[in-house]
Amino acid sequence: MKYLITGVKGQLGYDIVRELEKRDEHEYLALDAEEMDITDRDKVREVIMEYQPDAIFHCAAYTAVDKAEDNVETCEKVNVEGTRNIAEAAREVGSKLIYLSTDYVFDGTKEGKYVPEDPTNPKSVYGKTKYLGELEALKVLKHYIVRISWVFGINGHNFIKTMLKLAETHDAVSVVSDQVGSPTYTVDLARLLVDMAHADRYGIYHATNEGECSWADFAEYIFKANGKDTKVNHITSEEYPQKAYRPRNSRLSKDKLVENGFDLLPTWQDAVDRYSEELNKVYVKGAK
Ligand SMILES: NC(=O)c1ccc[n+]([C@@H]2O[C@H](COP(=O)([O-])OP(=O)(O)OC[C@H]3O[C@@H](n4cnc5c(N)ncnc54)[C@H](OP(=O)(O)O)[C@@H]3O)[C@@H](O)[C@H]2O)c1
Repeated sequence: MKYLITGVKGQLGYDIVRELEKRDEHEYLALDAEEMDITDRDKVREVIMEYQPDAIFHCAAYTAVDKAEDNVETCEKVNVEGTRNIAEAAREVGSKLIYLSTDYVFDGTKEGKYVPEDPTNPKSVYGKTKYLGELEALKVLKHYIVRISWVFGINGHNFIKTMLKLAETHDAVSVVSDQVGSPTYTVDLARLLVDMAHADRYGIYHATNEGECSWADFAEYIFKANGKDTKVNHITSEEYPQKAYRPRNSRLSKDKLVENGFDLLPTWQDAVDRYSEELNKVYVKGAK
């Protein structure tokens, strides 16, 4: 199979390439923003028509959730127009499209877990643009829309790196405990996404590591896994105002993965343990 990956310099794009390499699948074209700006319709069409991929992992996105509130146009351009460009070209070559979406398409007011069929109600600019991106992806016959949350991977910024950085200078940190969800490790997610590319059980899915926690629980476990005795003060969302709206309940049901024969991801604690090992290896090698 031939794959095209957008956003290779981001957290997920990077690990999809590593997953393909692990499987001895070397026929892929992995591009960053400089090589193919997804907002450039002609360029996207030219690259995809020429490469003729069987599956496209569309990981590139404008992901700065708070900045997006002030940069509406740029966020729309990347997340909606960019996805439209990719989707149009995917349709033209008959490729599968694997589009990554987010828990932010929901408002977080539901009591239980969100199933893929639940009504969406994005409240932030980022959430709205990712939802509009979903509508573009839906126009591709062979589509997977995979909603993920609280993502961490070696190649980029994330909550775990922020917490570990804070631990270097703080004995205690204050973290919100009234937003509940599930972290997603890009190594585990990449495995599922490549499995999906090999299958034809298209549709909208939710995928995260198993188990759930608040951001404060997540921080506590990160410190424990990394041998830090930094204390976590549990605070409310009101005590930590952020520019963009955050859903209080980001719990996503993964039943549909099981129903369609896909493997669930390991628990988030197991993922944090493995990620911590990975981080330590990188530090040993003197990386950034
Ligand atoms: N991170 C999360 O917590 C989270 C949660 C839910 C869903 N998701 C979704 O999961 C996917 C992967 O997320 P991630 O964490 O891997 O994101 P990421 O680390 O922020 O990577 C996104 C990549 O997209 C690239 N990009 C931005 N604008 C582009 C453009 N115009 N053309 C081409 N590439 C462009 C960025 O390149 P530059 O850095 O050079 O701009 C970056 O390498 C995204 O679709 C995201 O919306 C993420």
